[in-house]
Amino acid sequence: MSPNDLLSLKNKVAIVTGGGNGIGRASSLMLAAHGASVVVADLKMKNATRVADEIEAQGGRALAVTCNVTDDDDRRALIDKTLEAFGGIHILVNNAGGGGAGKESPDDIDVERFASVFELNVFSIWRLCQLCAPHMRKAGDGSIINMSSMSSVNRSPAISAYASSKAAINHMTANLAHDYGPEIRVNAVGPGAVRTDALASVLTPEIEKAMLTHTPLERLGEPDDIAGAVLYFAAPISRWVSGQVLFVNGGGVQTLD
Ligand SMILES: NC(=O)c1ccc[n+]([C@@H]2O[C@H](COP(=O)([O-])OP(=O)(O)OC[C@H]3O[C@@H](n4cnc5c(N)ncnc54)[C@H](O)[C@@H]3O)[C@@H](O)[C@H]2O)c1
Repeated sequence: MSPNDLLSLKNKVAIVTGGGNGIGRASSLMLAAHGASVVVADLKMKNATRVADEIEAQGGRALAVTCNVTDDDDRRALIDKTLEAFGGIHILVNNAGGGGAGKESPDDIDVERFASVFELNVFSIWRLCQLCAPHMRKAGDGSIINMSSMSSVNRSPAISAYASSKAAINHMTANLAHDYGPEIRVNAVGPGAVRTDALASVLTPEIEKAMLTHTPLERLGEPDDIAGAVLYFAAPISRWVSGQVLFVNGGGVQTLD
C-alpha cells in the first residue's frame, strides 16, 4: 500500500453515533474528508441533518439518521438505512455517550440512574457492534472505534457511574478485539477535556485553570484533536492495531474536582 493510501477511506462506509455535535460532528467531517460515506446518526435529527449537509457541501457523501442508541428499534433501523443508502458497513464510531459528570454521588443518584448510564455508554456500544459485525465480516474489513474517556482511568468524586461505564468500554474494547478479529479491528479513544457543549455545561474558569496546570500542552482539547485519533483507527495506517485505547489529552490529566 502506498503511503498516500494509508489514510484513505475511499469506498468505505462509516456510521458515527452522536454525529450531530461536538466530537461526533468533527469525526463525521474528518472521515468524510478522507473519502468515507458517512451516516450521521443522532438523537437530534436537526443536528444530524446539519452535519450531513456540511459534508455534502464539501463534496462528500452523507446520510442523516435519527437514532437513539439506547433504543433497539432505532439501532436496527440505523443498520437497515445504512445498507439501503450505501450498500455496506466498514467503520462504526460509537461516539454517543454521556452521564452526570460531577453529579453522581451515591447520595444523589439511585440505581436506575446508574443503570441508565450503562445503558447509554456500554450496552448500546455492545449491541451496535453485534449488529454491524456481520456486515463488516462480509466486507472482509471493519474498524470499530469506541469513545471512552480519561475518566475511565482517573479517580474523582461524584462521577462513579460515568467513569466506571467508560472503564467498561476500555475492557470491552480489548475483549471484543478477540471476538471480532481478524476481519474487524476494535479500538477506543479516550479524550481528556474537549471543548464541546457537554463540557461547557460543567466547565468553570477555575476548573479550566486547574486542568491546564496538569496539562503539558497547555490547552484543552478541540473536537478535531479527537477526530484525528478516530481517523487513525478507521484508516489502514492502523491496520495492525486492535484492542487498544488511545488517550488524547494534551499529555496530561484534566478532572472536574
Ligand atoms: N467533551 C469532552 O470533554 C469529553 C471527554 C471525554 C469523553 N467524551 C465523550 O465523547 C462523546 C461525545 O461527547 P461530546 O462532548 O462531543 O458531546 P456533545 O454533547 O457535544 O454531543 C453529543 C451528541 O450526541 C447526541 N446524543 C446524545 N444522546 C444520544 C443518544 N442516546 N443517541 C444518539 N445520539 C445521542 C447529542 O444529540 C449530540 O449531538 C461522549 O461519549 C462523551 O462521553 C467527551
